[in-house]
This record gives sequence, C-alpha cells and structure tokens, in this order.
Amino acid sequence: MEIVLSGIRPTGNLHLGNYFGAVKNFVKMQEEANCFFFIADYHSLTTHPKPGDLHGKVRQVLAEYLAAGLDPEKSTLYIQSDLPETAELYLFLNMNAYLGELERVTTFKEKARKQPDNVNAGLLTYPSLMAADIIIHKAQKVPVGKDQEQNLEMTRTFARRFNRMYQEDYFPIPQAFNFGEELVKVPGLDGSGKMGKSEGEGNAIFLCDDPKTIRKKVMRAVTDSGPTEPFQPKPEPIDNLFTLLKVMSTPDALAHFEEQYNSCNIRYGDLKKHLAEEIILFTEPIRNRILELSQDDAAISKAARMGAEKARESARKTLREVREIIGFKSF
Ligand code: TYM
Repeated sequence: MEIVLSGIRPTGNLHLGNYFGAVKNFVKMQEEANCFFFIADYHSLTTHPKPGDLHGKVRQVLAEYLAAGLDPEKSTLYIQSDLPETAELYLFLNMNAYLGELERVTTFKEKARKQPDNVNAGLLTYPSLMAADIIIHKAQKVPVGKDQEQNLEMTRTFARRFNRMYQEDYFPIPQAFNFGEELVKVPGLDGSGKMGKSEGEGNAIFLCDDPKTIRKKVMRAVTDSGPTEPFQPKPEPIDNLFTLLKVMSTPDALAHFEEQYNSCNIRYGDLKKHLAEEIILFTEPIRNRILELSQDDAAISKAARMGAEKARESARKTLREVREIIGFKSF
C-alpha cells in the first residue's frame, strides 16, 4: 500500500491555508493509503517556545486535526517528539548535508531575515529534519502546500544521496502531492503573500474563529478603489480575494464576481460579505468539533498514545536497518 505522510508545526491554530494546502488532501488519502500525519514539535523549537506553552499548543493542534477529519483509527496520527528515532536519522542526514545548499533554501533566508538575532543551527538544518520525518516511514507521497516545494526537493536530494553513498536502493524518493494538480497556495487577507500563522493580525482565518471574527477579518481585507476600465488585470490584493473565493465558493459565484469586475461594476463589500458567509458555512461545523474535542482529554490522549505506538513501530524498523546499512554493529 502506498505510504503518505505530512506534518504541521504547532506554532498556532490551523488556518484555511493549512486546511486547503495539506489537511484536506490528507483526509481524502486516509481512506486508501497507509497514512502518517504528525505534529512537528521538534521543528517548532527553532522559535524557542516557552516550556509551559509547548504542550498546550500541541494539544490544541491535535484537537484541530481530529476536528478537521483526521481519523486516528484510519491513519497514524502522532507527535514528532514521541519518535526520538527521528532525531537519530536527522543526525545521520546532517553528516551529508552541506552548508552551501542549506543556506540557499528560500525559507531559511526568509527566516534569517525575520529573526536576525536567532539564526540557529536548527533553522539552517530544518530541511534535513524534515527529510528525516518523511523518509523515516519511507513515505512516497507528501500532501503539502506550495510553500513546502523546495523542502521536498531537499528531501529528495538527501534520500538519493543516502542511497548513492551506501549503494542501496533503500529510501523511496518522495513527491509533494495534490492529486495530480498544482500545489495550493492560499493567500492571506493583508494584500500580499500567503496565509500564515506568523504573518500578523488579520491575515489568517483560523478554523476555530467565530463568525463575528471571520466577518471582521474578511471585511477588513485590503482592496482598492476598483477597476477603471474593462478586463483590467487584478492587482495582488484583489487577485487574492478572488483566489479565496475560488477556494471557498461555487464556480457560479466566482463567475458572477468576475463578470462584475470585468465590467467595472464590482462592489468589493458585496464580494467580501459573500466570501465571509461561505467561510463561516465551511468552518462552523469544524469549529464546533474543535470546541467539543478541546474538552475531551480522553479522546486526545487516546489518539496521541495510539499514534505514537504505531509510528514507533515503523520508525524503529527503519532505524534498525539504517544503522546496519551505515555499518553500526553491536558487540
Ligand atoms: P506549516 O506548519 O507551515 O504548514 C502546514 C501545512 O500547511 C500548508 N500551508 C499552506 N498551504 C497552502 N496555502 C497556505 N497559505 C499555507 N500555509 C501553510 C503547508 O504547505 C504545510 O503543508 N515544514 C512544515 C512542517 C513539516 C512537514 C514535515 C510537512 C515538518 N516536517 C514533513 C510535511 C512533511 C511546515 O512548516 O508546515
């Protein structure tokens, strides 16, 4: 059976970008493949969370995953730090990861720019930890958003390098995956770039946002004074709103607002009201499940324990084989 894997950092609540970029595809895949989905709490250490906050954030993301439709009976849902084998494989991969290639990774360059006082080695070696996450279960398909494309390229490089170095066809070469379609990039509401947890107040819509908050965020989204001639190309903030509409609404509604834009009759207020109601319709049931699950300690602990057990079995097997391939032998 095909092996599918994906993960998320517990640095904030799940937003529409996480859902449409990764979680949605994963929920579909869990019906037909051997699926692993994990919470990347080792990765989140690059930003130095307080010990008291870390556990709560992992718990919240776990509840949100479950609420969004991940089924711990069908897939293996686990927490990265429950699998210390990941850290060992990360160490092995780092021995063959080079400064030049790591420094060229766009997300590293961006993060280094954003947090110049904290350009730590974990940030630099983020791609080798991510590669360890993926190849530890020998995953073949990785449902992720467009922003993870380069990290996946690095994973392939590290997997190929390992295979070549030890002359074994051991690790499969994984692919970023979205059912044969382009990887998704859900834009944010602040007029530029993608929806993200750390992009500032109002940029992201979280699955746990209440209707009032959603209406407020959408109504405040950046727009302009409207097109002055027919079929004018859309500036980025407007294009972003149309992309969100495409993700959230029906083709008919999209065609209606496109027509209004192209004939210079668009009223952004109407578009935003429609968009907000579509988002609320979609998030409301998930939000209710999040509220329920957040209170349900038993369901959360059960999911985490079950997942850890299943994930460890697969990780231990890989590490046993990898140690042997590398040449470690017991006396
Ligand atoms: P993270 O936590 O930033 O995001 C989790 C997933 O959500 C997707 N995503 C988006 N997709 C479309 N539009 C957006 N605006 C958007 N924002 C986020 C991301 O592409 C991702 O799929 N490095 C990863 C976590 C990770 C991982 C892994 C993923 C660690 N190890 C192994 C897959 C496999 C990250 O920071 O994702």
